[in-house]
Amino acid sequence: MTDIAQLERDLLAAVNEAANERALDDVRVSALGKKGAVAELLKTLGAMNPDERKAKGASFNALRDRVADAIAARKTELEQGSLDARLSSERVDVSLPAPEPLRGTVHPVSQVTDEITAIFADLGFAVAEGPDIESDDYNFTKLNIPPEHPARQMHDTFYLKPQGDGSRPLLRTHTSPVQVRTMLAQKPPIRIIAPGRTYRHDSDATHSPMFHQVEALVIDEETHLGHLKWLIEEFCKAFFEVSSVAIRLRPSYFPFTEPSMEVDVQCDRSGGTLKIGEGKDWLEIGGSGMVHPRVLEMCGIDPARYQGFAFGFGIDRLAMLKYGIPDIRPFFESDLRWLKHYGFVPLDIPTLDGGISR
Ligand code: FA5
Repeated sequence: MTDIAQLERDLLAAVNEAANERALDDVRVSALGKKGAVAELLKTLGAMNPDERKAKGASFNALRDRVADAIAARKTELEQGSLDARLSSERVDVSLPAPEPLRGTVHPVSQVTDEITAIFADLGFAVAEGPDIESDDYNFTKLNIPPEHPARQMHDTFYLKPQGDGSRPLLRTHTSPVQVRTMLAQKPPIRIIAPGRTYRHDSDATHSPMFHQVEALVIDEETHLGHLKWLIEEFCKAFFEVSSVAIRLRPSYFPFTEPSMEVDVQCDRSGGTLKIGEGKDWLEIGGSGMVHPRVLEMCGIDPARYQGFAFGFGIDRLAMLKYGIPDIRPFFESDLRWLKHYGFVPLDIPTLDGGISR
């Protein structure tokens, strides 16, 4: 007759001595497997009378549970140990330069986003964010674009599946919904920029289905078009790194601003190159205007007391202009040769005092 207490001591000792997960699994099979020690014990129940079977059966099952618990505990211990060993043996010195073929570069969109953020941070702007998947209400309705408005067609929107409540989320077509989110969440004075991804059903040399915009929003008690024009000029001078740049504000239409203006920057396209700050040509970089009183009202801001202005520029377009990149499509094709050619040195963070683009 097997000595149960001795068997348990032997099995638990084997569990504790298992030096790795493989050895532990061998112990598990020899103890709890189909032909293991506990299974052999259970087989002896058949030859016992009912009373004996009841008593022994309970003690065999309890033994099986204790051995199984010990195996599970040892398994956790071994897993933790191998994780600790891996973490200490695989330590990486992130300050070491990567070998040349592995060295990554900063994508022009990331570089330009950092440059824009540095310029506006210096002017006292905070950075606001919103989700890529937006509600119809924030992308359109609260921006004074009700469901039947023709401006919705101009946005070439990607819609998601309708939700249970009948609403239909969408991929935001511009960064202007961040205006709505900011005004609903904070009281004036407001001074934010919101860079981020935007989406439209559109593709050619200057249009990409996924592109980037930067929104700027200022709300205060005394704001006017002069402030808007000054801000755009200061931004363009700092961004294009020129001492003066002529800006042209062309009358335009956006449902969420009144008056609305398209922003053009003076440039010279002669000789196959593009120079900013000189010449006779103009290049559109985005839309702007004074925030429509209806938008302020829908976002809980009193239009009798506050006014403000906003603009939205295409970041990819700004990158193309500044760094002479002729086509927008390769921006998002992940071609390493393109990235190497147009990419920027990592760790060179743009700052106004350090040099925006180095
Ligand atoms: C807007 O999206 C407005 N929300 C801008 C705005 C904000 C106006 C605040 C007034 C106040 P528009 O559709 O013109 O406007 O787009 C602005 C800029 O985004 C364009 O000038 C262009 O630079 C860029 N853009 C638009 N569509 C694409 C695209 N498919 N690919 C790349 N850039 C694009």
